[in-house]
Amino acid sequence: MPRTAVASAFDALDNHARALRVESAPDLFARNPLRFQEFSVPLDDFLFDFSKHKITRETIALLVALAEARDLEGRRAALFAGEPVNNTEGRAAMHMGLRDFSNKPIIVQGVDFRREIEATRERVFAFARDIRAGAILGAGDKPFTDIVNIGIGGSDLGPAMAARALSPYRGAGPRTHFVANVDGADLSDTLEPLDLSRTLFIVSSKTFTTQETMANAASARARVVAALGETAVPRHFAAVSTRLDKAAEFGINPERVFGFWDWVGGRYSLWSSIGLALAIAVGPDHFTQFLRGGFDIDTHFREAPLDRNIPALMGLLGVWHRNVLGRATHAVIPYDQRLARFPAYLQQLDMESNGKSVTRAGEPVETATGPAIFGEPGTNGQHAFFQLLHQGTDVTPIDFLVAAEPVAADPHHHALLFANCLAQSEAFMRGRTLEEAKALLRKEGRFEAEVERLAPHKAFSGDRPSSTLLYRKLDPRTLGRLVALYEHKVFTQSVIWDINPFDQWGVELGKELAGRLAPIVEDASVSTAALDGSTAGLIAWRRG
Ligand code: F6P
Repeated sequence: MPRTAVASAFDALDNHARALRVESAPDLFARNPLRFQEFSVPLDDFLFDFSKHKITRETIALLVALAEARDLEGRRAALFAGEPVNNTEGRAAMHMGLRDFSNKPIIVQGVDFRREIEATRERVFAFARDIRAGAILGAGDKPFTDIVNIGIGGSDLGPAMAARALSPYRGAGPRTHFVANVDGADLSDTLEPLDLSRTLFIVSSKTFTTQETMANAASARARVVAALGETAVPRHFAAVSTRLDKAAEFGINPERVFGFWDWVGGRYSLWSSIGLALAIAVGPDHFTQFLRGGFDIDTHFREAPLDRNIPALMGLLGVWHRNVLGRATHAVIPYDQRLARFPAYLQQLDMESNGKSVTRAGEPVETATGPAIFGEPGTNGQHAFFQLLHQGTDVTPIDFLVAAEPVAADPHHHALLFANCLAQSEAFMRGRTLEEAKALLRKEGRFEAEVERLAPHKAFSGDRPSSTLLYRKLDPRTLGRLVALYEHKVFTQSVIWDINPFDQWGVELGKELAGRLAPIVEDASVSTAALDGSTAGLIAWRRG
């Protein structure tokens, strides 16, 4: 792609941003009564509202021109064609194949995987059904009441986030728990209230080599052996991995090992057998609805024109804020308590994908790439970090997520929740001028000196951008849509930045060093002489 086309698209956006400085979002609303209709996209029972950003139709046209200069549509076609878009690992990134209900072949690097995908899913579903029905028993010949998923990163965050999000859909299924941290407190605290004879462990690891997961799995195995005997291991463990050989070496019954493929990235793997804990938690039918939600968004992402394409717009608005306006952070605030783990899930999805500083060709990038993502459920966040979002010196664009209807929750509480969500996005956009602040203080009957003194503290700049994703209710299909929307948003941005979102070499060095340091930390007789002064000093202090 000629760099000049991209550079001129960015130049045009920079000029446009300068021209927009005199505008404000409230003025844009005042001048255009149809602004909400123009800057929102409905999709079935979903609505993406981006009208509260200080943008115009020209902004969108210029962002779409940038996407065209980067051949977003061509890159998207390559992604869906199962080409090796993960060019540093020579792999496709075909997680969409796991939720493809089209009946067409699912081609990954020239091979049709449809049968294998469906057969694997059927095995996962059969196992999930049997566990839920109590047809598979633990060592004491009793059904499982609790499932503990042992995994980290993509082998934890997805199922953990989704099981919590869909907790009302659990029915009579067992409870699910998630252990990720190598900190032994995670495993101990999780197991403390559980009856091991009624607990099934799922060791989830794409590579089956991850230090934390292997350490937790070994400790869980030791506990099962101590409590129930060696023969209990095959009955109390299942595994999900691309390395079936390694799972077998661990002693897991091959009938309880569920595979997937190297073309499914860890942070995109919830749709695969990595979703086993979720399939057990909510049952195969709800899991299928979740997959269908993902497929809805794949279809939309492939077919909708870029200026009405929700994930493409989310990505391009992010580029506008990151590259044109220099905003380094992005908040995701679900006004939905059951999405409490969604921001953490997105942190991996977004930051492990787009936290890169070289292009696909290995050249230094010329623009900033992924922002820092953070978030907490509303309304809790309002009473914690929102102060900085409202009046801090940096502007953080925000995604608000909210349901129109509650699921298994009090309608009055939901009305309060919904009102708070809208109130916040309105406050961020409108702000409060110094004059308005003064008028309010005068209305409170304050003396003029006090009005002058306090007004600057009570003024808000406003024009703080936010999008709102409004959905009917947080059901399995909606959750599938939400996850897939963000996946394609991240992909869109990677195309604009010309980076590979599907590798994660940046996490390797720390892993290697941890492997090297562990024996030195554990054995006080090993010399620290070869280490840097700080690392050696910290180890010496621990040794006492
Ligand atoms: O943190 C790096 C990473 O490789 C993630 O991409 C992955 O989701 C996680 O570790 C866990 O890896 P695995 O599933 O192989 O245990």
